[in-house]
Amino acid sequence: MTPAFHGRRIALAVSGSIAAYKAALVARLLVTEGAEVQALFTRSASQFVGAATFAGITGRPVLCEMFASDAAGERHVEIAKRSELLLIVPATADLLARLASGRADDLVAATALCCTCPVVAAPAMHPAMWSHPSTQRNVGTLVGDGRVRLVGPVHGEVASGDHGVGRMSEPEAIVAAALAALAPRDLLDRHVVVTAGPTVEDLDPVRFLSNRSSGKMGFAIAARAAARGANVTLISGPTALPTPVGVTRIDVRSAIEMQAAVDRALGADLGAADALVMAAAVGDYRPARAHEKKLKRGPGALELELVPNPDILATVGAARGGTRPVLVGFAVEADTEAQVVAYARAKLDSKRVDVVVANHAADAFGKDDNRVSLVTRDGVQALGPAPKSELADPILDFVAQKLREQG
Ligand SMILES: Cc1cc2nc3c(=O)[nH]c(=O)nc-3n(C[C@H](O)[C@H](O)[C@H](O)COP(=O)(O)O)c2cc1C
Repeated sequence: MTPAFHGRRIALAVSGSIAAYKAALVARLLVTEGAEVQALFTRSASQFVGAATFAGITGRPVLCEMFASDAAGERHVEIAKRSELLLIVPATADLLARLASGRADDLVAATALCCTCPVVAAPAMHPAMWSHPSTQRNVGTLVGDGRVRLVGPVHGEVASGDHGVGRMSEPEAIVAAALAALAPRDLLDRHVVVTAGPTVEDLDPVRFLSNRSSGKMGFAIAARAAARGANVTLISGPTALPTPVGVTRIDVRSAIEMQAAVDRALGADLGAADALVMAAAVGDYRPARAHEKKLKRGPGALELELVPNPDILATVGAARGGTRPVLVGFAVEADTEAQVVAYARAKLDSKRVDVVVANHAADAFGKDDNRVSLVTRDGVQALGPAPKSELADPILDFVAQKLREQG
């Protein structure tokens, strides 16, 4: 049987608590289950455990310094990019405080601040430290931000002999939490094409027609698809968002340019992609003519002629002979919930797609969170309100399920 962590790249950060010795057992369990483990120490960790132990278990030197003379480039950035999971065992009160306030004053904190992968922390401290309002406030911030998941602490005896909540979870429980946090690799080697952001239709050299799409939903889907092992082509209209790690990005401006980029990504007979997720807000119309020179102000009304843009999704849906690529459409409407779902149902058939993600304009545009309905021929699944990064996974679950059914 394939080991549970086969080939998974995990950064294991150790901080300064007596429970640090148990992190060696965690490292051992991860390595035994096939993980590539890179141990990181805070400056005080080596007061508690030896780097040689972790280097021996993981087969890699332990990293502690951000400014090491042998470190090429930015060590924290490289580690964050490479890692699929940052596991902090144990997490001291001090480290949790630094993470909650966004500090980057050592290699562990800087790496955590840079990570887009899941971060799991196993706090360990005296119960008085754990129950202190400062620690509780810091933990609340970290969990509330959605960037850190906690495993433990549990009730029991701590090093001082006192009892209470503060004892670190056992290594097996920590490893189970690590496994749960890692994204499934169910899109491994699939080619997923994602469109995102608005399109921009030029009217003249200084004016354009566009919409309020931020691109956040499409970028979140691209990031999660890459984390799940897909080769992702992200075709984006103009946005200021950074390119997710491991994603190939193609920037476009107009709907026509987006259509050309989608056609290239899907290849002849749509054979080059396993799924197309059309999260972009493609403008329905463009000016009949883009003026080469700036339109001059005049005394009377200015009439603009608009012509329809290509319906990229419907064109692909009509061209698709079989069931591939899996087609995911988005519907944004400003009507009642029932109407939004009804429009989405109609789109399923008119555009011949597999699922339509229906959302309300007021909930969706520019926000980090969203509330959507996944409308398929089998029914409607309501999701959220939740961060867009969390809504990406259920959408991709549907894609992965469809691809599995197709074999
Ligand atoms: C013997 C000893 C044990 C400690 N155990 C803990 C602990 O279990 N949890 C904790 O939060 N701090 C503990 N501390 C305090 C931390 O080591 C200290 O706050 C340190 O600055 C943490 O730095 P780091 O988070 O960068 O590793 C302990 C200190 C000593 C001297």
